[in-house]
Amino acid sequence: MSSFLCSLLLIFIFTSQLTIATTDTANKFQYFCDQNNDGGNYPTNSTYHTNLNTLLSTLTSNKDINYGFYNSSYGNNTDKVNAIGLCRGDVKLNDCQNCLKNSTVLLTQHCQNRKEAIGWYNDEECMLRYSNRSIFGLNEIGPAYFVWNTNNATNEVEFNKVVNFFLDSLRNRAASGDSDLKYAVGSDEVGPSNNQTIYGLVQCTPDLSKTLCDDCLVQSIKEISNCCNNRLGARIVRPSCNLRYETNSFFYQPTPSDSPSPSPVPVPVPSFSTPPPFAQNNTSSQDKGNTSRNVVPVILLMLILLCSLLSSF
Ligand SMILES: *[C@@H]1O[C@H](CO)[C@@H](O)[C@H](O)[C@H]1NC(C)=O
Ligand SMILES: *[C@@H]1O[C@H](CO)[C@@H](O)[C@H](O)[C@H]1NC(C)=O
Ligand SMILES: *[C@@H]1O[C@H](CO)[C@@H](O)[C@H](O)[C@H]1NC(C)=O
Ligand SMILES: *[C@@H]1O[C@H](CO)[C@@H](O)[C@H](O)[C@H]1NC(C)=O
Ligand SMILES: *[C@@H]1O[C@H](CO)[C@@H](O)[C@H](O)[C@H]1NC(C)=O
Ligand SMILES: *[C@@H]1O[C@H](CO)[C@@H](O)[C@H](O)[C@H]1NC(C)=O
Ligand SMILES: *[C@@H]1O[C@H](CO)[C@@H](O)[C@H](O)[C@H]1NC(C)=O
Ligand SMILES: *[C@@H]1O[C@H](CO)[C@@H](O)[C@H](O)[C@H]1NC(C)=O
Ligand SMILES: *[C@@H]1O[C@H](CO)[C@@H](O)[C@H](O)[C@H]1NC(C)=O
Ligand SMILES: *[C@@H]1O[C@H](CO)[C@@H](O)[C@H](O)[C@H]1NC(C)=O
Repeated sequence: MSSFLCSLLLIFIFTSQLTIATTDTANKFQYFCDQNNDGGNYPTNSTYHTNLNTLLSTLTSNKDINYGFYNSSYGNNTDKVNAIGLCRGDVKLNDCQNCLKNSTVLLTQHCQNRKEAIGWYNDEECMLRYSNRSIFGLNEIGPAYFVWNTNNATNEVEFNKVVNFFLDSLRNRAASGDSDLKYAVGSDEVGPSNNQTIYGLVQCTPDLSKTLCDDCLVQSIKEISNCCNNRLGARIVRPSCNLRYETNSFFYQPTPSDSPSPSPVPVPVPSFSTPPPFAQNNTSSQDKGNTSRNVVPVILLMLILLCSLLSSF
């Protein structure tokens, strides 16, 4: 049997005037160059450039870090570079490091000479960002992108209620995490006879305080009703926090410290496995939030239709 696979619509919302938001589909990489809106460029082979290369090539070298979060700086004064690498909470150490390595190559290639950039690799398996300004401990909700399943729940009111309640409980758990990991996954039942399962994941960069993590995820949960109301799956992806729910399981293990499952480890395949129709939309929205700098009126939009034909067994 063959089934017609995934078609997603990505809307990129970004907060600076000339930012280019792009997807490198071949590499499953989403990125924004220069989210900082002062047009910061560094010259090739400048001190900033070499500092950036040094920092990124050593970012994951601290052997004491096994929880998927890297934050460090390199250089002095105006040539100081700050970087954050965050892996999804269920990604194993080795995969995490490879994910960040690949992101390093892609991000510095796509955002050549930009002082600030951010990118997500492989369905948000990891995020990499860097800047000349300090980016630690801040709740930054932009630039962000949203992705949703084109299929809708049939029982809208009840579905939205359950999803909200469920995500709120995950938010509480994630925000209560420690400074190594602020992450929660789980599942809940929804539907007329409670026979449909939804799976959810939320995560903050663990350098955020409990309150800031909470703030970030509150914004994201609120956003669902704007971008993704009643959708059977959605992702709200921001620099400081990440939210996703689906009707099929898309994460490996409840926590990275769990002992390995005896059954084969599921592969993180694209999870939009229902056959949705093509969808296209234009939308503009405004993210009012708690970034450390000015929140610029949000422009919008960018879209992608991914379609693949799955062939029979
Ligand atoms: C970062 O670089 C931009 C552009 O060169 C500059 O305007 C800004 O002041 C720098 N920020 C910091 C914190 O050095
Ligand atoms: C930068 O340095 C490399 C290696 O030293 C050199 O090959 C390249 O020509 C330099 N580029 C510029 C623009 O100076
Ligand atoms: C930063 O300054 C310190 C003290 O002057 C110096 O030892 C160090 O090498 C500098 N680091 C870089 C990357 O230039
Ligand atoms: C990194 O990229 C290489 C080459 O494209 C690929 O073989 C590898 O699977 C990627 N690693 C991860 C963690 O995605
Ligand atoms: C889902 O709902 C949206 C908005 O309510 C609508 O535009 C879209 O066509 C619906 N999708 C399907 C597959 O019916
Ligand atoms: C759940 O049950 C209802 C009937 O009670 C049925 O129509 C629906 O298809 C079922 N959904 C799933 C996901 O099994
Ligand atoms: C990096 O993150 C860790 C863990 O969240 C935190 O304890 C540390 O202070 C952070 N370092 C910097 C430079 O912000
Ligand atoms: C576009 O998306 C918005 C919300 O994201 C929705 O309200 C609207 O109905 C959509 N329009 C079309 C034509 O799908
Ligand atoms: C999206 O915007 C373009 C250009 O503004 C317009 O031609 C198109 O009809 C719009 N599509 C939808 C679904 O609103
Ligand atoms: C931003 O965060 C601060 C402290 O967390 C809070 O007092 C303020 O109300 C927030 N502002 C907005 C617009 O959310």
